[in-house]
Amino acid sequence: MTRALVFDSGVGGLTIADALRKAAPDWIVDYAADSGFFPYGVKSDEELRARLPALCATLVNVAKPDVLVIACNTASTLSLADIRAKVSVPVVGTVPAIKPAAEQTKTGVIGILATPGTVRRAYLDDLERQFAAGKIVIRRGSAGLVDIAERAVRGQAIDQEQVAYAVKPMFDPPDGPNIDIVVLACTHFPLIREAIAAACPPGVRLIDTSEAVARQAVRVVTPSSSTGDAIAYVTGGAANKAAMQPAFARFGYPVIEIIDA
Ligand code: DGL
Repeated sequence: MTRALVFDSGVGGLTIADALRKAAPDWIVDYAADSGFFPYGVKSDEELRARLPALCATLVNVAKPDVLVIACNTASTLSLADIRAKVSVPVVGTVPAIKPAAEQTKTGVIGILATPGTVRRAYLDDLERQFAAGKIVIRRGSAGLVDIAERAVRGQAIDQEQVAYAVKPMFDPPDGPNIDIVVLACTHFPLIREAIAAACPPGVRLIDTSEAVARQAVRVVTPSSSTGDAIAYVTGGAANKAAMQPAFARFGYPVIEIIDA
């Protein structure tokens, strides 16, 4: 069976792992959460550049996947090329769905909801230039939403007021009220999709990239004959393993291994 490794800073990539299991039901889909270094969205570029390629190489050595899926916009928009240079399997990234949003918007105004790291990336400027010329793109970075999503998947209640506090300023600029599509440009956000939708004006559509990323993984992989159960890997030692256990159990990962990194 073909084996994929889906990687994120925390639980966000579980949305991509889910999409991948739907797209390729016979694959073994391993998961790695860099919980010891979570959250990525507020880390400096230097810190992430120093960590990501080496960590991904370690994970690929341990899990031996046929394809590595970077299920994190914050990591992909910064380090995809560096990670590709460091590992010997195909690497699929997750980047904001600006192209479909630009194709589908009727008002010409798009919202991008992401981490503070992703909203300031040059990669995002390039995507905008390439795919959203002539559109108005309003970026909103929030570390708070990442935290809310991470805690929600670990079993805590979602505070709708906090979600609204994070989301509403996106609609404040002069063109804000015309936003008709919001790109969920952080893999954590689909986990609290309903709460985010409730914080947006009525009629706003939310889109994400999980299905497109899953399709791309299927496209680039060379199938293999791997065997065994899916494993979840976690950094940050026993405390993080215990903290992540409910989320992993919910998403079908009873086996959790600690990665020293
Ligand atoms: N899930 C990540 C993303 O897609 C980042 C969350 C974080 O660690 O800040 O950007």
